[in-house]
Amino acid sequence: MSNPASPPAVGVVDDRPPLTFPPGFLWGAATAAYQIEGAAAEGGRTPSIWDTFSHTPGRVVEGHTGDVACDHYHRMGSDVALMAELGLKSYRFSVSWPRVQPGGTGPANAGGLDFYRRLVDELLAHGIEPWLTLYHWDLPQPLEDAGGWPARDTAARFADYATLVADALGDRVRYWTTLNEPWCSAFLGYGSGAHAPGRSDGADAVRAGHHLMLGHGLAVQALRAARPTAEVGVTVNLYPVTPASVAPADVDAARRIDGLANRFFLDPLLRGSYPADLMADLAKVTDFGHVRDGDLATISTPLDVVGVNYYSRHVVAAPVPGAEPEPYWRAPSCWPGSEDVRFVTRGVPVTDMNWEIDAPGLVETLRRVHEEYTDLPLYVTENGSAFVDEVVDGQVDDVDRLAYFDAHLRAAHEAIEAGVPLRGYFAWSLMDNFEWAWGYTKRFGMVHVDYDSQVRIPKSSARWYAEVIRRNGLAAQ
Ligand code: FCB
Repeated sequence: MSNPASPPAVGVVDDRPPLTFPPGFLWGAATAAYQIEGAAAEGGRTPSIWDTFSHTPGRVVEGHTGDVACDHYHRMGSDVALMAELGLKSYRFSVSWPRVQPGGTGPANAGGLDFYRRLVDELLAHGIEPWLTLYHWDLPQPLEDAGGWPARDTAARFADYATLVADALGDRVRYWTTLNEPWCSAFLGYGSGAHAPGRSDGADAVRAGHHLMLGHGLAVQALRAARPTAEVGVTVNLYPVTPASVAPADVDAARRIDGLANRFFLDPLLRGSYPADLMADLAKVTDFGHVRDGDLATISTPLDVVGVNYYSRHVVAAPVPGAEPEPYWRAPSCWPGSEDVRFVTRGVPVTDMNWEIDAPGLVETLRRVHEEYTDLPLYVTENGSAFVDEVVDGQVDDVDRLAYFDAHLRAAHEAIEAGVPLRGYFAWSLMDNFEWAWGYTKRFGMVHVDYDSQVRIPKSSARWYAEVIRRNGLAAQ
């Protein structure tokens, strides 16, 4: 497949034969609590690491915070009505840990749980399957003060929190994701410091990654104990990693980055071990003394589903002396032990995040997980793109975003044809929101949000997606 071919303009009759997805394919859209809810200090919610981080000058572009965000906390009813209007079959949201368990320890906050009870009931009333993520990066600040994810105890706290949410919502939520993208929590949060809590120490990042996975394993067990019928999974963000050339040094750079980006998580979660080459690469960073007997068995507790978030590909090369340091996930400090690897820009079309658009990478990623790791049902739990949008006469004609979705859905279909048991797809995101360190400057939504008025406008991509859902597929190329 090539990069996005333009789909037919919205409203134009398209008579090409339809590309149909399997019956019951779960079409959804995703969000995360801190990115949309706002109401940061309401209903008993206490600060998370993202409140602290975003309120620290210099951390988030233009000093933006999630204090108000999309005000979803107060607009949940009309937001769910909008989801129903688009025909979503499922909605993936996350629970704010400090809203339901302020401080991260002790009893539940009934008011906080109530918000999610109402959300879930509203979804079910509209025939929308709730898909609940327990941890989308908002660690309660007191747990960070006690050491954060590099501290082993945080894993146990996470399992307690999982029980508390399962007890409250387990009767009406079928799909549960423990963690969203542990790579970002560990390596952006504790390695490069680009994300909350903004710490920068390679050994801490590696420890955080392990304790996140340990927390995941303990939470899976807690969820199963509380709700034996729950469908439980984890969401990892995966990238194909390609060497810039066939030169052995470039090939080795790709092996190392693949180790840190993908296999650091896939192997423990799905095989119960850390890859030997990765451990050797990391030997100068850590002796893995934080890994205790039994941890890997806990981490690899069997799952029901695996969630994959896919955005782009990494192309890497061996170090070049004097190469400029790069920002964000290209920052050397995201890659402990492999700081010398260089990320290469190929000059292919990029999104507003500067992420290269690479739909074939989704086919490769899904096939790899299925062919090398697991027969479990897979879900694309996030996929999408940021572009600069313009509101013209009350409309947003986001052709680039629409083309991105179109190309990636074709890729998803290709993966299914290749034998991948892909059971659903969640667009990132339902609506524009607080894009972490980029604040509100990057728009990923299918629905436009005016942050002053909080008016929502479904973009062309949303209308198009509604049609995709309606016919369970899209036009063939
Ligand atoms: C993913 C995050 C999600 C959003 C998208 C663009 O890494 O899970 O919250 O920021 O990227």
